[in-house]
Amino acid sequence: MKAQMKNLNLLLLLLLFSLHLTSVLSWKKDEFRNCNQTPFCKRARSRKPGYSSLLATDVTISDGDLVAKLLPKDLNDQINPLILSISAYQDGILRLRIDEDPSSDPPPPKKRFQVPDVIVPEFDNKKLWLQTLSTETFHGDASPSSVAYLSDAYEAVLRHDPFEVYVRDKSNGNRVISLNSHGLFDFEQLRAKKTKNEQQNEGDHHQDQDQNQDQDQDEAHDQAQDHNHDHDQNEDDWAETFRGHTDKRPYGPQSISFDVSFYGADFVYGIPERASSFALKPTRGPGLEDHSEPYRLFNLDVFEYIHDAPFGLYGSIPFMISHGKSYGTSGFFWLNAAEMQIDVLSAGWDADSGISLPSDRTRIDTFWMSEAGIVDTFFFVGPGPKDVVRQYTSVTGTPAMPQHFATAYHQCRWNYRDEEDVDQVDSKFDENDIPYDVLWLDIEHTDGKRYFSWDRVLFPHPEEMQNKLAAKGRHMVTIVDPHIKRDDSYFLHKEATQKGYYVKDANGNDFDGWCWPGSSSYPDTLNPVIRSWWADKFSYDNYVGSTPSLYIWNDMNEPSVFNGPELTMPRDSLHYGGVEHRELHNAYGYYFHMATADGLLKRGNGNDRPFVLSRAIFAGSQRHGAIWTGDNSAEWDHLRVSVPMILTLGLTGISFSGADVGGFFGNPEPELLVRWYQVGAFYPFFRAHAHHDTKRREPWLFGERNTELIRDAIHVRYMLLPYFYTLFREANTSGVPVVRPLWMEFPSEEATFNNDEAFMVGNSILVQGIYTEVQL
Ligand code: NOJ
Repeated sequence: MKAQMKNLNLLLLLLLFSLHLTSVLSWKKDEFRNCNQTPFCKRARSRKPGYSSLLATDVTISDGDLVAKLLPKDLNDQINPLILSISAYQDGILRLRIDEDPSSDPPPPKKRFQVPDVIVPEFDNKKLWLQTLSTETFHGDASPSSVAYLSDAYEAVLRHDPFEVYVRDKSNGNRVISLNSHGLFDFEQLRAKKTKNEQQNEGDHHQDQDQNQDQDQDEAHDQAQDHNHDHDQNEDDWAETFRGHTDKRPYGPQSISFDVSFYGADFVYGIPERASSFALKPTRGPGLEDHSEPYRLFNLDVFEYIHDAPFGLYGSIPFMISHGKSYGTSGFFWLNAAEMQIDVLSAGWDADSGISLPSDRTRIDTFWMSEAGIVDTFFFVGPGPKDVVRQYTSVTGTPAMPQHFATAYHQCRWNYRDEEDVDQVDSKFDENDIPYDVLWLDIEHTDGKRYFSWDRVLFPHPEEMQNKLAAKGRHMVTIVDPHIKRDDSYFLHKEATQKGYYVKDANGNDFDGWCWPGSSSYPDTLNPVIRSWWADKFSYDNYVGSTPSLYIWNDMNEPSVFNGPELTMPRDSLHYGGVEHRELHNAYGYYFHMATADGLLKRGNGNDRPFVLSRAIFAGSQRHGAIWTGDNSAEWDHLRVSVPMILTLGLTGISFSGADVGGFFGNPEPELLVRWYQVGAFYPFFRAHAHHDTKRREPWLFGERNTELIRDAIHVRYMLLPYFYTLFREANTSGVPVVRPLWMEFPSEEATFNNDEAFMVGNSILVQGIYTEVQL
């Protein structure tokens, strides 16, 4: 019986596995939720401007911050007050935080998650200690506002009723960025589920009350209850099922949403990662269909993603930049790692709202929704494009300085089969006079997808293989993913199990999901102790067969879970400190990347610059290494969209990025491959890679003429290496990316604002790719 069960399990797993492989063939839209299937997104989008009724009271200065309470105007509303604080930092940075008040009665059932280890410690030194506040009533305004110093040129304003926060230019009173100007702010407070008895008692109580109230009061009461989502024990609030996966929500809905406006803006950019245009198109409002989707930030392993979609891919950086001729550049960052959805609203979306904002300049309104976390937001005043990236990277860190070799050309394939294959590919580069610096090994080099091990039949002499490459000044990269094979004889699994280092499922057991090795568990790298344990695995003693010329590739760290909801980890899984996976999902890969990069630092006693490529990213990933844009396809449109994708990443701090040259899925026709090398030679991270089902495509396999063209492209990169290296250093010191949109160098040239075909490498080289066939 037991054996039969085992076989059945095996069959089921094989079925799942083959399902995964077939899904590689096309993008399965239905696997993923849209906004309407995501309760917090649907709720938030249904609200109308003016919905929010919070007012700021008890405004004061405490610890150098402007602090206030946010209270509902309607006292029947059963919301606990929220605490708002505004801090000013050097260089025109305003930080606005809003959270539940731990001292409220009743207190929140737990502390909401604040993303740790993203803001660099040095940022604290930039804090300006506010001393005074002035209260003013601006012309035409019915409510007073508290005004605080932000810089010599800008001030921070908190309007009291209804509450609104904005930055304005002192010289002319013009606004730069504002939050809650349209009254869409909403903050769902944590709740503990009531027992049947408590519900019953409460029901009786409400009935008594209601009989004593008149009609008007009833309505006010209902609305108040709606704000608190507390009017009934709606079962959907506590659990929800999507495609057979049930997500338990022990604290009820806990989302946050609000509107943000950018003034003097012609376009907005940023919020990677997705395959779409550089300037973000509106997603809601006049001219758009009702079912158009917001931009989604939710790290997912999306097979064969399509170009030109608002759908979120492997990484999430909740940072938006605006640029326009009348103001210049400004930015808004929300440090929050839960699923986020963002609407860019088309002009006139608020026409019937009765809300009037200064209309003398162009303005772009946006709407931000997140499933959990707190409001921890940063307003960057610019006013130039380079100012904004400098301001943003002063919060999240500047990109790590790579080693020179990492800025050169990388050769990858899933998989270089064995040591002989590695040897041949290596020699062929020399024979063909094509320089390259790094050869990569994908998952098949391991012993059954147990990372930190080698398939000893295919790779019997890993040190010798690496040393041979190293003798020519070359390096090797091997892959180390976060899914750990649940095999009792595997040292890593044994250790992680014994120490309790895995992420837990909703019942408190080690989470068990399906990935390349089969049944797998995932280290909980949110915990610094577990990060340090993971980092130690990269020492030469622990990673047997590794040498100083070996570096690392982190893949599938969204995390990818083939049998999980939307192919990822269930949101009700649990992390260190009782943090729900929903609260940190978008940063899981970030912590894993961080731990791996720390491992390489530790391995070299801090004397080496790590190289770690990661697929999943979050704000701050630039400090830990390079990233690539995942599983693209060998299609012209994918070559084209790689440029806005890389430009967006650069603008949001991630300077060291690239797309798979040649396209991961499918077989590029020779002309496409050549054109891809010609553009790819200017990507900050320049690597060719391909799926195992594709034909071999090393640069010498397409006839003499094509080899020559590819050789030329790679030679150009090598010729420019000193220039690239200098630009990497510039990024490392200032945050200004290696490749830049044209308007970063020419901020007042309007024609450049939505050009995402051409780009600048530094301030001196303009690159225009060729994205269609012209017959070479
Ligand atoms: C998915 C990655 O995106 C791809 O680059 C890699 O080759 C495969 N995983 C196998 O590791």
